[in-house]
Amino acid sequence: MSYIENANLKLDAMRDRDDIVVLAIESSCDETAVAITKGRQLLSNIIASQIEIHKRYGGVVPEIASRNHTLAINNTVKEALDKAGMTLDDVDCIAVTYGAGLLGALIVGVSYAKALAYATGKPLIGVNHIKGHIAANYLAKPDLEPPYLCLIASGGHTTIAYVKSLTEIEIKGATQDDACGEAFDKVARVLDLPYPGGPQIEKLAKEGKPTIDLPTPYKDKDTYDFSYSGIKTAVINYAHKCQQKGEQLNRADLACSFQEKVTDIMVNNTIRCAVDMGVDTVVIAGGVGANSVLRAKMQQRAQSHNIQVFYPPLVLCTDNGAMIASQAYNMIKTGAKASDIDLDANASLKVWE
Ligand code: KG4
Ligand code: ZN
Repeated sequence: MSYIENANLKLDAMRDRDDIVVLAIESSCDETAVAITKGRQLLSNIIASQIEIHKRYGGVVPEIASRNHTLAINNTVKEALDKAGMTLDDVDCIAVTYGAGLLGALIVGVSYAKALAYATGKPLIGVNHIKGHIAANYLAKPDLEPPYLCLIASGGHTTIAYVKSLTEIEIKGATQDDACGEAFDKVARVLDLPYPGGPQIEKLAKEGKPTIDLPTPYKDKDTYDFSYSGIKTAVINYAHKCQQKGEQLNRADLACSFQEKVTDIMVNNTIRCAVDMGVDTVVIAGGVGANSVLRAKMQQRAQSHNIQVFYPPLVLCTDNGAMIASQAYNMIKTGAKASDIDLDANASLKVWE
């Protein structure tokens, strides 16, 4: 029997169980992350972050990220197994992010996962990174059930998705240029803050007031789409003008004004979409979802419309292996076939694929 025939037989035999053990690998950007879950329970979640390495370049350098994934992956897998008190024999299935992300970085995780699955004869599940971000919510709230509306706000995406089932989504709105995390990171650079910019801006904004007027994109347009390039340019122009006039730039006020503007837009679009669709549950996913102002505003705005809001704990918002394990579990439960040993990394995998 071929590897894939055997893998699919094994998957079929485990679908009815609610204690499936998944070992998941995530290497799409600058975190080498491995987690082990048993059903919806998180047993270990190890994240070898490269942030300190990339900080000196002001952002992620793809080639350096790939090299460091190669160095870290074996020990990260070992650590995740140790922390869960397990060996590979206890694992039912290997999951891996196969897209979207940096190609070289993805290839490290995909190659490792394929080798591990083939050597152990265990089924392999290729997972969409963005669907993983959404699935982090099932670990935080195991009784969460689709349909619901999800704001996905990360370094690469800003999307409002209608989550129809555990594996299907429909896009309601998306950024037409930069992703919001990308905008946080670029504005941080203007403010001389280190990478990654989101948490730094959040910290600095606490000392400021939203006194600086920034543009609202698509103000008169009936859309749930986003645009961040105009806001980003306005921030850059404001900083340059201050410099030209020899005025002291109030960095905290600029950080605060930027954060207020982008979180307002995300919350407005999401709640408006939920109200228009008659959806009563909104979920937040992705790295920018760690932003406390975004979380609080979403809760506050949702309340007046009787909409409930959920979001994962901070560690499950930014990239991690647990979210990939969670989505692999969803896929197994809904009848997904195993990925074959020719699974390829796909840098530009679409959110809905
Ligand atoms: O989801 P993620 O970890 O990686 C991608 O899939 O892109 O998101 C990373 C992004 C970065 O742009 C980072 O600046 C942003 O999430 N981020 C935040 C916060 N924490 C991380 N943005 C705003 N506020 C935060 N607290
Ligand atoms: Zn991510």
